Amino acid sequence: MDKAFAQKRAQELRALLHQYGYEYYVLDSPTVPDSEYDRLMQELIHIEKEFPALITTDSPTQRVGGEPLSAFTKVQHDIPLLSLANAFNEQDLRDFDRRVRSGVGEEISYVCELKIDGLAVSLKYENGSFVQGATRGDGTTGEDITVNLRTVQSIPLRLKQPVTIEVRGEVFMPKRSFERLNEEREKQDEMLFANPRNAAAGSLRQLDPKIAASRHLDIFLYGIASVDTLDVPVASHSEGLDFLDELGFKTNQERKKCDTIEEVFTFISHWTEQRPNLPYEIDGIVIKVNALSQQENLGATVKSPRWAIAYKFPAEEVVTTLRGIELNVGRTGVVTPTAMLDPVQVAGTTVQRATLHNEDFIREKEIKIGDRVVIKKAGDIIPEVVRALSEQRTGEEEEFYMPTHCPACESELVRLDDEVALRCINPKCSAQIREGLIHFVSRNAMNIDGLGEKVITQLFNHGLIKDVADLYRLKREELIQLERMGEKSVDNLLQAIETSKKNSLERLLFGLGIRYVGAKAAKTLAKHFMTIDRLKTATLEELITVDEIGEKMAESITAYFHKEEVHELIEELRDFGVNLTYLGPVDLPKESENHYFNGKSIVLTGKLEQFTREEAKEKIELLGGKVTGSVSKSTDLVIAGEKAGSKLKKAEELGIEVWDEARLAEELNG
Ligand code: IVH
Repeated sequence: MDKAFAQKRAQELRALLHQYGYEYYVLDSPTVPDSEYDRLMQELIHIEKEFPALITTDSPTQRVGGEPLSAFTKVQHDIPLLSLANAFNEQDLRDFDRRVRSGVGEEISYVCELKIDGLAVSLKYENGSFVQGATRGDGTTGEDITVNLRTVQSIPLRLKQPVTIEVRGEVFMPKRSFERLNEEREKQDEMLFANPRNAAAGSLRQLDPKIAASRHLDIFLYGIASVDTLDVPVASHSEGLDFLDELGFKTNQERKKCDTIEEVFTFISHWTEQRPNLPYEIDGIVIKVNALSQQENLGATVKSPRWAIAYKFPAEEVVTTLRGIELNVGRTGVVTPTAMLDPVQVAGTTVQRATLHNEDFIREKEIKIGDRVVIKKAGDIIPEVVRALSEQRTGEEEEFYMPTHCPACESELVRLDDEVALRCINPKCSAQIREGLIHFVSRNAMNIDGLGEKVITQLFNHGLIKDVADLYRLKREELIQLERMGEKSVDNLLQAIETSKKNSLERLLFGLGIRYVGAKAAKTLAKHFMTIDRLKTATLEELITVDEIGEKMAESITAYFHKEEVHELIEELRDFGVNLTYLGPVDLPKESENHYFNGKSIVLTGKLEQFTREEAKEKIELLGGKVTGSVSKSTDLVIAGEKAGSKLKKAEELGIEVWDEARLAEELNG
C-alpha cells in the first residue's frame, strides 16, 4: 500500500469508526454488528502500524495508550466548577421557586434533569479534538485525567463540528458494570467497592489508563462552560443541551421543560418511583432556570448558582438496635466483628447483620453494644453501620473489646505488620480449616454440588473431614448416618465429589487457598506451568517472569509449596485420582451447532433465582450464544428474571423475543 492511499483509507476508516462508535456508545443503537466494527478497527490498526506517521491523537485506536503516569498534574479551571445548593423537601423547592421568580420578575421556565451520581469533569476540545479532561477538585484546581477520560468510549475524541469548547458533565459507572466489577473482585479476593460512585472515582484515580479502560465508565454532559463561535446562538439551557447532542456528545435524554413548580414535583415523583429501573444511579433531580439571560441575571454566590438547585432523594438509611457483636474467623485467620441487629428493612431487604470491619472501625465510630445505630445499604453489598446515636443512650450500653485469643482455637491473636486486622496464625485453627474447606468446594474452586457451608460444618463437626484430602475419603456408610442425609443426597454428593476429580488444575490451585492467588491468577499459573509438579518446584525468579504474577504472590506461592504437609497433601490427592494438570479451555460441544442459542445475541436482565449470572452466561455461551449487556435492534432474545426493568421494557418496545427464567432453565437443564 502506498502512503497516499494509506492516508486516504485511514481517514475513511476513522470516519466510519467514529460514526459506528457514536451510534453504539452515545445513541445506544448500533447499526452494524460488533464484528464489522472490530474488522474496521483491525484494518486501521494495521495501517497505523505500517505508517506510524499517520497516527492522529484523535484516532479511535488511540483511546488507551502510553505508559502509566507517575502522578496527575494540576489543572487550573478558567471557569470554576460550582456546586449546587440542595433541597430536601417540597418546602425547600417552593422557597427556591419564589426566590427565582421574584429575582427575575418575569415569566420563567425550568429544565429538570436527573442528578447523576458520579464525578464532575470538565472536557476541553480544540477545533473539534479532545485535548484535556480534568476532575472538579476544589472547583478552581482539578487534576488532569485526560488519559483516563480518553478510555471512556462515550466521550468523543473528535466532534462533529470543529468547535473550540469546554463542556461539563458527570462520569459514572453503570450499575451492571459495577456488579460485574465487584463479582470479579470477589473472585480475586479483592476489596469490593461500596457503590458505583466509589468504583468510578477509584477508576479515574488510576495512574495506568489500562485499568480505567477495563472499567466501562460512561458519561452524561450537562453544560457548556465556554464556546468560541456559534453559527446558531444558544439562548437557553435546553438549546445548549441540544447543541451538545449535535456535536456528538452524550447527554441525558430524560430531561423535561417545566413551566410551573407543580410540574417539577410531578417530574420528581415520577423519577423517585422509576429510579430503581434506571441502568445507572441517580441521587436526585437538578432543576435549572432555562433562559440564559435569566441565569445571568440571577448570578451566583461563591459556591453555587442562584438559578439552579439539586433536589436530593432521601438516603436509604434506617435506625435499629445493635444487640451484640459476633466474631468470625476467616479462611486466612482474620477475625472480623459483625454487628447482630434487630431486623429492619433497608432498600427493600431485611437486614440483621452488618460488618464492623475491625476494632479501629468500632473505636472510630464509638459503637457500643446496645446502641441505636444508623444502617446504610450501599449498592448491592453488605450493609454497613454508619454511626451510633450516642444521644439516645440509656447508660446500659456496653463497650466492646476485641478478644486477645482466637474465638475458635484460643491461640493468641496477632497484628501482622501494619495491618489493622487481628489474625489467628495457628495453622491448625478449626475455624480457618472449616472456612478453607468451604472455599475448596465453592463454585469457582472445585465446584462440588451439594457441599455448602452447612454440610461442610456438619462433616467437620463429626470429625469426618480435617483437610481437603479427607473429602475424597468419605464413605457412603458414614454419610448415610448423618442427619438430613438421605440415600439420594448421599449418592449425589459422592458423585459430585467423584466428578470434581476431573477438574482442570486451576480450580484445584484456587481451591487450595494459597494467599493472594485468586481465580484469575490460578488460571494463569495453570496455563503456564501445566502441572502441579512443575509449579511446586518453580523458583521465585521463574514465577515473577510470568505475566500478571507479582513478587508478593510469587513469594506466597514458593512459601506454600515449601511446606512438607503440602507435598503430602498433593500425593494424597494424586492417589485419589484427582487431576493435577491443566486441561485447557473448554471446547464447544458438538451439539451447539444445532442449538437454538447458536449465533444468537442474548441479554440477561433482572434477578435470576436458579443460576448466577455467570453460570447462565457460561451455559449459553457453551451452546454458541453470545451474551451482551444492552438491548438493541440486533438483540435476538432477552431473558428476564425477577424485577427486570428498563431492558425488558426496551425489548418489548423493539418486539424482541422474551423468555422468563423457567423457560431458560428448561432449555439449559433439559
Ligand atoms: S449542573 C453550576 N446537572 O451534582 C451547576 N450537575 O453539586 C453545575 N451533577 O458537582 C452542576 N448531575 O457533578 C448538574 N444534571 C446535572 C448533574 C449534576 C449530577 C453533579 C455535579 C455537581 C453536583 C452538584
